Amino acid sequence: MIIKNGNVVLETGVAKKDLLIENGKIVKIEDSIEVGANEVVDANGLYVFPGLIDMHVHLREPGFEHKEDIESGSKAAVKGGFTQICCMPNTDPVADNKVVVSYIKKRGEEVGLCKVRPIGAITKGLKGEFMADVGEMKKVGAVAISDDGKTVKNSRLMRLAMEYASGFDIKCLCHCEDAELVDGGVVHEGFNSTVAGLKGIQRAAEDIIIAREIALAESLDVPVHICHVSTYSGVRLIRDAKRAGVKVTAETCPHYFSLTDDVIRDFNTFTKVNPPIREDVDRDAIIAGLKDGTLDCIVTDHAPHHADDKNVEYNLASFGISGLETSFALAITNLYKTGVLSLNEIAERMSGAPAKILNLEGGKIVKGGVADLMIANLDEEWVVDGEKFLSKGKNTPFNGAKLCGVVKYTLVNGEIKYQA
Ligand code: DOR
Ligand code: ZN
Ligand code: ZN
Repeated sequence: MIIKNGNVVLETGVAKKDLLIENGKIVKIEDSIEVGANEVVDANGLYVFPGLIDMHVHLREPGFEHKEDIESGSKAAVKGGFTQICCMPNTDPVADNKVVVSYIKKRGEEVGLCKVRPIGAITKGLKGEFMADVGEMKKVGAVAISDDGKTVKNSRLMRLAMEYASGFDIKCLCHCEDAELVDGGVVHEGFNSTVAGLKGIQRAAEDIIIAREIALAESLDVPVHICHVSTYSGVRLIRDAKRAGVKVTAETCPHYFSLTDDVIRDFNTFTKVNPPIREDVDRDAIIAGLKDGTLDCIVTDHAPHHADDKNVEYNLASFGISGLETSFALAITNLYKTGVLSLNEIAERMSGAPAKILNLEGGKIVKGGVADLMIANLDEEWVVDGEKFLSKGKNTPFNGAKLCGVVKYTLVNGEIKYQA
């Protein structure tokens, strides 16, 4: 296959190049390639990115297939430009052992759209009591461990988990939330929560655990990864830790760089997410953190829910946003078109960095590299309508938003898995 005349997003910048793909690999990147090919993709006027990698999604299978399954999640992923997705273990049964982890991996391969990489649990049943078997899960394909949805409350257990994980060369991905301090809160604590009469969640509930994970990583000299950073103060903690040489990496999500908690004022439960959408100062700090690399990557925290979980009063609704089908356009609209990030910085945050953090293939367009690619039109506008999502989760706070950036093709191992 030849991809002709595209603006190719390389690590060094954007260049007009042709790509020759053979046996799932990029074999040539040149100004003009003229050989007979079975298939020619005309990318004139389009941009060719490394296939996006989302290191934090919830696919809900096994156990909650009414919210999402590996097939519907994979369809949403390739439509969103993702060639690899890493799925959290909060399923039923929990992915805390080799049987469930290998089931998820095998099911992902059967569906055969994007690469589905399972994340194993840190503790058995996500109960925070006993450690799951990291080595056994890694052997069958777990790419990281996490109790996402919950914090491992016991600091001693967390210390052990970080030491074990480091021994197996696998990362702990930490959901940071002091449960006692959250105390049933449903939105960010501030002016808007007061006016709405909804119970708030302070920044400190997140920051205390971010600080703990950093302290553990520093004293043990092992790596740690902080999930879905939402606070300005959390960004500051991570920036300082990185400057001091702590092996900490971190992610944020499109809703934290795109929205503020004004959106809760109409009680739309699609805005309910954990951690909560916060204020201007937080959004600005998240954007600055993405710019200076304090925040290594953008993940969706794709958390699809059934209408029955959201079509209830705000206090009772499930936390989560269905994010796979809006993430790229939100990054283009709110980070690229606004001049904050260049295209190669977007590619780094959405593909290169997650590949490095989890030691995955792909993440960049290089000769000899795997042909996991995404081709997009960056000028085409569209209006978000969650009802049209391929994900079973229609829960997006971006309904009605006009965004820039449409994924035209997604290629996995050189095969077209999605075409607009
Ligand atoms: O909003 C969220 N939804 N945050 C989490 O940490 C878990 C996730 C879910 O599984 O629905
Ligand atoms: Zn989480
Ligand atoms: Zn999550």
